Amino acid sequence: MRIKENYSLKDWNTFGIDVRCRRFVEYDTPEELATLIGQRPLLHIGGGSNLLFLGDYEGTVLHSAIRSIEPRTDGGDVLLRVGAAVVWDDLVAYTIGRGWYGLENLSLIPGEVGASAVQNIGAYGAEAKDFITEVECMDLQTGQRRVFTNAECQYAYRQSIFKTDEHRGRWAVLYVTYRLSQTFVPRLDYGGIRAELERKGIDISALTANQLRQTIIEIRKAKLPDPKVQGNAGSFFMNPVVSRAQYEALARQYPTMPHYDMDAERVKIPAGWMIEQCGWKGRSLGPAAVHDRQALVLVNRGGATGQDIVRLCEAVRHDVAARFGIDIHPEVNLIRP
Ligand code: EPU
Repeated sequence: MRIKENYSLKDWNTFGIDVRCRRFVEYDTPEELATLIGQRPLLHIGGGSNLLFLGDYEGTVLHSAIRSIEPRTDGGDVLLRVGAAVVWDDLVAYTIGRGWYGLENLSLIPGEVGASAVQNIGAYGAEAKDFITEVECMDLQTGQRRVFTNAECQYAYRQSIFKTDEHRGRWAVLYVTYRLSQTFVPRLDYGGIRAELERKGIDISALTANQLRQTIIEIRKAKLPDPKVQGNAGSFFMNPVVSRAQYEALARQYPTMPHYDMDAERVKIPAGWMIEQCGWKGRSLGPAAVHDRQALVLVNRGGATGQDIVRLCEAVRHDVAARFGIDIHPEVNLIRP
């Protein structure tokens, strides 16, 4: 266990916001975590790729260093029990290297395994929930351990029980178990993947998981800013899900509006498209800006505070609501002091 006092969180949030916490504790085992229960206030973080600090954190910040990977076979599948602190993309590379398939489309998503289960990370037609069988947690109020099955996690688009008002901040994820297949079944139908494979001259009938992974990585790198170069937390907003009636009314007005059908009643509209229509793509407000290649991403142009990012967030939300009648919400977790 490593304990730091009055510790800078600048390297612990991909926005690169320069704030400090009173105490920072990194633990190596669930037993060590159990000794920390009861401290207040307490914030458990992962890779910091979905956080926006609005000021110094006047409490204890916890980080797991549990990085075990335990595979076992189950019929034709592999069940992998993975420590919460394993870097997500290292896990994706590791599984593909061993011939365990499923996570290819989730390549290069920043963050750690624990957050994959909280945020239900997703990209290119796949979501973490499609592979998670169970999530082992510790209650930060009592130290009790509890296993949540996939159904108990109540997964939906970027949503889980761990993000609800009742459970937010209560559970530390210790391990996540994923079910992967030993057969590679590529999923290519989400925007742009097939076209990019064809452009690269790859024979889709002989596609390998590694080729798919590399293609996803290239698509992401072309659109999304590298946090090491320019602070950001990936998509800042969630894509709003609206009723079919609301979608149809908007589609009459904006016939080129992209959309994804969720089910018979609900349609998801890309917030990035709406933000671009409002003229925000590439625009700055002080040291915060809307990324010039993907309007869903807000960036720190250097020296921004959490408040600077929030000011931009609110200006963008205001304009999207005024033009489209839709209130968009941050996907990023705002951490108040
Ligand atoms: N679009 C624009 N302008 C923009 C951005 C997007 O017109 O500036 C349009 C695109 O042309 C496309 C549609 O909006 O028609 C969707 O764009 P894209 O495929 O880039 O995906 P997204 O909906 O903006 C979501 C995820 C991303 C994920 C991609 C790919 C959310 C909040 N974001 O973005 O996730 O990588 O799909 O699957 O659902 C993240 O969560 O950090 C993240 C990067």
